[in-house]
Amino acid sequence: MVQKREHWGSHWGFIMAAMGSAVGLGNIWRFSYAMGQGGGSAFLIIYLLSVLVIGFPVMLIEFSIGRRAQTDAVDAFKKIAPGTPWMAAGGLGVLAAFLILSFYGVIGGWSLRYSFEYLTGGITGDSTDFFVGFIGDTFSPIFWQFIFMGLTIGIVYLGVQKGIELSSKWMMPILSILLVGLAAFSLTLGGAAEAFAFMFQPDWSAFTDPSVYISAMGQAFFTLSLGMGAMLTYSSYLEPKERLTSSAAFIIVLDTLFALISGLVIFPALFAYGLDPAEGAGLVFMVLPNIFEALGGIGTLAGFAFFILLSMAALSSAISLLEVAVAYFIRKLNMSRKKVTVIVGAIIFLLGIPSSLSQGAVSITIFGESFLDFMDSFTGNLLLPLGGLIMVLFVGWTWTKKEVLHHGDIAHNPLGPLYFLTAKFVAPAAILVVLIMGMLNWL
Ligand code: TRP
Repeated sequence: MVQKREHWGSHWGFIMAAMGSAVGLGNIWRFSYAMGQGGGSAFLIIYLLSVLVIGFPVMLIEFSIGRRAQTDAVDAFKKIAPGTPWMAAGGLGVLAAFLILSFYGVIGGWSLRYSFEYLTGGITGDSTDFFVGFIGDTFSPIFWQFIFMGLTIGIVYLGVQKGIELSSKWMMPILSILLVGLAAFSLTLGGAAEAFAFMFQPDWSAFTDPSVYISAMGQAFFTLSLGMGAMLTYSSYLEPKERLTSSAAFIIVLDTLFALISGLVIFPALFAYGLDPAEGAGLVFMVLPNIFEALGGIGTLAGFAFFILLSMAALSSAISLLEVAVAYFIRKLNMSRKKVTVIVGAIIFLLGIPSSLSQGAVSITIFGESFLDFMDSFTGNLLLPLGGLIMVLFVGWTWTKKEVLHHGDIAHNPLGPLYFLTAKFVAPAAILVVLIMGMLNWL
C-alpha cells in the first residue's frame, strides 16, 4: 500500500514551520556563546556574510529540490537524478538528523528544567554550581531530555498539519513577543552601551583567526537549519505552485533578527553585571540566572519567560530534525507515521544519553572535547557544510540555468542571474574554502 503524502494546510503554516525550524537553540544558546568566543562583532560580520552568500542560495536550493521532488531527502535525489551518487547528500542528512537531535534533545531538556525551576521560585545561590551539579548528575538531565523528546515525538506523531503546522503557528508568535519584551527589559539594566560596542564595533584582529570563519559559517548553516534536508523535507509538503523566493528571504531575515535580538537580551544583562561573554556553551545557563536572581521577583518572571522561550524555540526546531528521519523511514519501510515516529524518536533519545552523561557523570571525550561538544561542532562545522556543498553542486552543476531559475521561482526576478552565479560558483567556493581552512586548522 502506498500512503498518500501529507501537505501543509496553508502557505503561512509552511512559513511558520520553517521559521520554527530555523529559530531555535542556535539563535539564543549557540549564537550567544559562539559570538562571545569569536570576538563579538568580527564573528557577527562573517556570520552575516555567510548568511547572505551561502545561507540564501543553499536555502533556496533546498526548497527547489524539495518542492520539485515532493518526497523525502534521500528519495528526492533518486527521483531527480536516478542512479547517481548525489543521493549521498540525503543519506548524510538523515544521519545528521539522528546526530544533531541526539544532543539537541539534551539541551532542550536542560532548558525545560530551567523553565520549571523559575516556575517554582527560581535558581538561587551559585548558579554555576547549580548548573554543573545538574548536568553532571546521572539521571535528572536524562529525565528532562526524555520529557523534551517526548514532546517532540508527540508533535511529529500528530502529522504535518495537526502537529508541526499547528504547533508552529502557536509557538512562533508567542516566542517573538517574549523575545522583544525581554530585550526591551534587558536594555534598561545599564549594560546597553557596552553590549552595543561588543556586538557592533569590529575588532579587526579577530578577522585573521581562521577558527572565527569556521564557527561563523557553521553557525549560519546551523541556525538556518541547512545542509541536511530539513528545509528540503518541509518544502516537499508544499503544493508545486507555492512561492519560494520570498519565503526564503522572509525566514532568513527573521532568523537573523531573532539572533540579533537574542544578543540584545543576553549581552546587555551580561555586561551590566560584569560577567564574561566568552564563557562558552554554558553561557545562558550559568550566567543569566545570576542576573535573574539579582533582580528579585521581576527576575524570576523574566527567567521564566526566557527559559520558556528557549524551550519553545528548541521544540519547534527539534520537530524538524525528527521529521527528516521520519519522512524517510515512512516511505522506506512503508510503515505508519505513528509507528515510525515513536521508534525513530526512541532511538534518538537513546543516542543522546552519552551526550548527557558526558557532562560530568561519566568522562566521555573525543579529541579532548566532551562528547556533547564534539557532536555539536562535528555536525555544525563539518557535516552540515558538507551536505550543503553537495546540494549546491548538485543543483548548480547538473541542472540547466533555466531549471535552476524555474525551480527556485526566481526566473522573473531581476536578482535571478545573480542568484544563479552565487549558487553555481560563489557559494560552493566559499563553503569549500572554509571547510579546507577548518581541516588545516584542526590538523
Ligand atoms: N536551526 C535550529 C536552531 O537554530 C536547529 C535545527 C533545526 C537544525 N533543524 C535543523 C540545524 C537542521 C541544522 C539542520 O536551533
